[in-house]
Order: sequence, then C-alpha cells, then structure tokens
Amino acid sequence: MTLPASTAAQLESIRVQVASQQPRWGDAETHIPVQRYLSPEIWRAEVQGLFRSLPLIAAHSSEIAPGQVLPNDSYGVPLLLARDAHGELRAFLNVCRHRGMRLVEDTGRAQPKASVVCPYHGWTYKLDGGLRHMLHAEAFDPCPAGARDLVALPCAERHGLVWVVPSAEGSIDLDAFLGGLNDELPFYEIAQLKVFRTIEAEYPANWKLIVDAFLEPYHIRVLHKDTIYPFFTDGITAAERFGPHISSLVARRAVQEWAAQPRCVAPQEQDGLRELATPSQVIFPNTITIFHPDYLSLITLYPTGPETLRWTHRMLIPQDKATPDWAPHWEKTFRLIEQGVFQKEDIHCAVRIQQGFATGANEYVTAGRVEQALAWFHESVRSHAGL
Ligand code: FES
Ligand SMILES: [Fe+2]
Repeated sequence: MTLPASTAAQLESIRVQVASQQPRWGDAETHIPVQRYLSPEIWRAEVQGLFRSLPLIAAHSSEIAPGQVLPNDSYGVPLLLARDAHGELRAFLNVCRHRGMRLVEDTGRAQPKASVVCPYHGWTYKLDGGLRHMLHAEAFDPCPAGARDLVALPCAERHGLVWVVPSAEGSIDLDAFLGGLNDELPFYEIAQLKVFRTIEAEYPANWKLIVDAFLEPYHIRVLHKDTIYPFFTDGITAAERFGPHISSLVARRAVQEWAAQPRCVAPQEQDGLRELATPSQVIFPNTITIFHPDYLSLITLYPTGPETLRWTHRMLIPQDKATPDWAPHWEKTFRLIEQGVFQKEDIHCAVRIQQGFATGANEYVTAGRVEQALAWFHESVRSHAGL
C-alpha cells in the first residue's frame, strides 16, 4: 500500500512549511457564535440532522464475530448489531416487537447467540431479524409476513468499521458519504487492528468543543507542553476536506531532520509517515481518528444534551502486539493518553470553556488562521442541521 495522493500532498505541504520556516495557515479569522454551544434548539436540530440522519460509527469490525450480537447505547437509541453465521452484519433496534421490551442487555462485549430471545415473554428472533417463534402463537391474530420482525436500521461495514444510521427511515451509501476518505482510509489498514480497551464517559460540555480540540494544532504547545508537545512542532499542519470530513497531518519533531535532507523522499509506509506526522481525521459528524506512532485512538461523540456529551474512546492496536506480554505497554500508553492527555487536558478545557460560555463574556469564539479547520467543521454542522 503506497501513500495516498492526498496524504502525499499534505506531507509535501508540511515539508515546504518546515523548509521555508513559513507555516501555511488559512485565509481568514472565523467567529463562531457561543449560542451554537448552548442552544437547546440548535442541539435538537443537530441530533435530527446529524445523529439521526447520517451514518455513525457503532463498532470496530473485530468487536463482533459471526454468530454474535452486540448492543450499543452510545447514540441515544438502543442499537443491536448482529452478525449471522455467514458473517453478514445487520443493525436493529434493540426492542421487542411484542410489547417493546429491551431484548439484549449490554455486557460490554459481543455475546454468542443462535437467536435472540426476549426476556419478557420469549418471542424469539433469528440473527437476520426474522421472528422465529412466539409462545402461544394461537393467541395472536395472523399478520403479514415480516410485520413482527425486528426493526432494521441502515448498516454497512467498510475499512474495518461498522456504520449505522440510527433511524429506520434513513438510508446508507458509504461510497457517496465517505467520498475521498474511501481512498485514504485503506492505507491505515484499520481492519487489521484489534480493540485493546474502550472507555465511555459523560462530560458537561457541548460535543463540538471536543471536535474543535482535535482540529487545531495551536493549543499543543501550551496545553500539552509537558505531555505531547515534546514530540510535535509548533503549529505546522496540513489539512484537506472531503465533503464534510476533514483529514489532516500534524507535524512531529522528526519532520525537521527529514525536511532538512537535500533529497528527502516521502515514506510510502504507514510507520514512516507516522514518525514524521500524526494523521488524524474528523469522520463527519462525530468520529475522530488519531494515528499515534503505534496505535489508533478512535473517538466517537454524542450530544446527550446541549451542554453534555458522551465520549467513547477505543484504543486499537496491531494484532501481532495483542499478546499478554504487550499488555503492560498498552495499559501504560492508554493511561497516558486517555487520562493524562485527553481527560486532564483536552476534555478539561472543553468543560471549563462550557462553564465560561454561561457567563456571557463572549458572544462568539474566535478561531485564528491557524485554526481554520474549525470554520470548515462548523459550516458542515450548520448546513446538515438545517440552520
Ligand atoms: S415484550 Fe418481548 S416477548 Fe413480550
Ligand atoms: Fe489536544
């Protein structure tokens, strides 16, 4: 697998910026109204226009094997993923068609099941959603075939990730939705990875504040000065839009030595790239990927309210390093990034900013030219929410 053209162009941009000592930033300062982070009406429009209409990442493919089901409650709708014996993955509402009981409780991992049996009166469903058995079926009127099957949701699997639209009225077309990201994602071989750890938590901040934090390198030097800044340059980045999605490289210190070579050649392998720059994507609307040098942070967000969010962070590691002797290394790494960097630094700031919004000190927040990707993201949110 060679370096995708879009990534090669970003790396070349970084090389030029480093060699010329001239960062290349956006054209204009942007102002984002504080109301976008506070208003219940805007929150409702975002839930409807983004979180009930667009494909959202609900799992990594490795989290559910053939003959297993996996509940997912991250998105405010009880989802049930089911992979049949042939490997086909489907998504349903985790709700019985009899009197509405929740079908499968969340145990934190996929559960092997030949069929799904409702714990209330025992209606039994196949993993393709079809109703297989009703206790005392003669007590019920006949109904058209399929009328009592589980409610299916649009679902598709691509690049090692599972996307679901959490609304039965929705539809899914990942070719059209992902656009140029379809050419970039295969390079990272996400399907080959394995989930080492998932952490889910709620925080009192608007969900967009978290996305904002991952869209600009401006804060790295100050906020992360004792944690990750020693590995990064100051404000050197290159970003590109694929529809509403944003892909970027943030230059690491190693890029300086590389760019200083008289004939510096772009690495064609992931490892080489990830030494020079950290690739990161905002897969619209709510997923952030961060390709650290040797593992992937996959973060998904959900706005549980205008001023609250659910954070789900999966740490994905290479399969050949998923052995017990590697576990202490991954434990330490996960603690450092999840607790040390994300919780204590990025999320802490989001929560503090949200508290500041309530004071009315700012009518809008200001994003400088070094933070241009915020303008792209907020414009996409606004248009998808119909605002
Ligand atoms: S509610 Fe599920 S079988 Fe009755
Ligand atoms: Fe950060």
